[in-house]
Amino acid sequence: MSLITLGIESSCDETGVALYQMGRGLLAHALHTQIAMHSEYGGVVPELASRDHVQRVIPLVRQVLSEAEVSLEQVDAIAYTQGPGLGGALLVGASVANALAYALDIPTIGIHHLEGHLLSPLLSDPAPYFPFVALLVSGGHTQLMRVDDVGRYTLLGETLDDAAGEAFDKSAKLLGLGYPGGPALSKLAAQGNPDRFKLPRPMLHSGDLDFSFSGLKTAVLTLTKQHEVDDQTRADIACATQEAIIDVLAYKARAALAQTGLSQLVVAGGVGANQLLRQRLSKDIGKRGGKVFYPDLQFCTDNGAMIAFAGALRLAQHQGRKDYRFDVKPRWD
Ligand code: KG4
Ligand code: ZN
Repeated sequence: MSLITLGIESSCDETGVALYQMGRGLLAHALHTQIAMHSEYGGVVPELASRDHVQRVIPLVRQVLSEAEVSLEQVDAIAYTQGPGLGGALLVGASVANALAYALDIPTIGIHHLEGHLLSPLLSDPAPYFPFVALLVSGGHTQLMRVDDVGRYTLLGETLDDAAGEAFDKSAKLLGLGYPGGPALSKLAAQGNPDRFKLPRPMLHSGDLDFSFSGLKTAVLTLTKQHEVDDQTRADIACATQEAIIDVLAYKARAALAQTGLSQLVVAGGVGANQLLRQRLSKDIGKRGGKVFYPDLQFCTDNGAMIAFAGALRLAQHQGRKDYRFDVKPRWD
């Protein structure tokens, strides 16, 4: 029987739990999102996030075990998100994982949240093969990586300030849209006229693979001050914002493939759920003989499946530990 890994994600505003078995794949996964709770405040409230994780995590563990018809005693290892993320939120997953593992006398594996995102497209069919270039676009990160194998990652470029998701969220806030801003902004952008406003494409021709998105919110703010912001204008600004972000991401992703000579691009992280980004990348890169891979939509944003999966791969490399001394890394390069 191949090994079963339980995965727990609690780095931000989603409690995700999943069971992955080598050779069989994902056995079950469950998610509780706190979006409704935080939306009242316009963003994630860390203390509320931690308290909610405490209430959700054990019921979700029970739920996946029951759905997969697996008993707790059949679990061979427990993976959890060790960082980066909110300290208190991370501690919930880490302490539950280590306490359960101690009781069961099985190893734990602390996973880097971005490694979870990075490897999540491998859960899909067809899956990419190594090596590939990964474009990681989440609320906290925007990075291009060369991925040669599990654990062999080379950073090719990253944002110097705001992440792409942050640019979506902050611009959405300026337009009076709810949290999280990415999906709301892209929905509104669909009603917008792409020719009315043109926003800057920062660092497009910087000659490297780095990004900068912090100027975008200033440009959006300026537009909202210059114009009377009726419904159509808001949609037009949303459209221009989305176009600017996607243009830069697509341009640099193409450049990363050209620089590395690789043909496969993997897109991961919450912004990877954006349909226009998906269309643009698939078209641009397809034209050049490359291929783009995306995680299933449900595994783009934070989830337990990617942590169980990354844990299973690390376990196969004998990286589980049985000392149950754990710390979390709210900041982790
Ligand atoms: O990966 P993720 O769930 O959490 C982090 O690790 O940050 O990413 C969340 C980010 C948020 O900034 C959210 O606005 C953005 O992903 N996002 C989107 C879309 N869906 C989520 N951005 C643009 N278009 C979307 N459809
Ligand atoms: Zn994430």
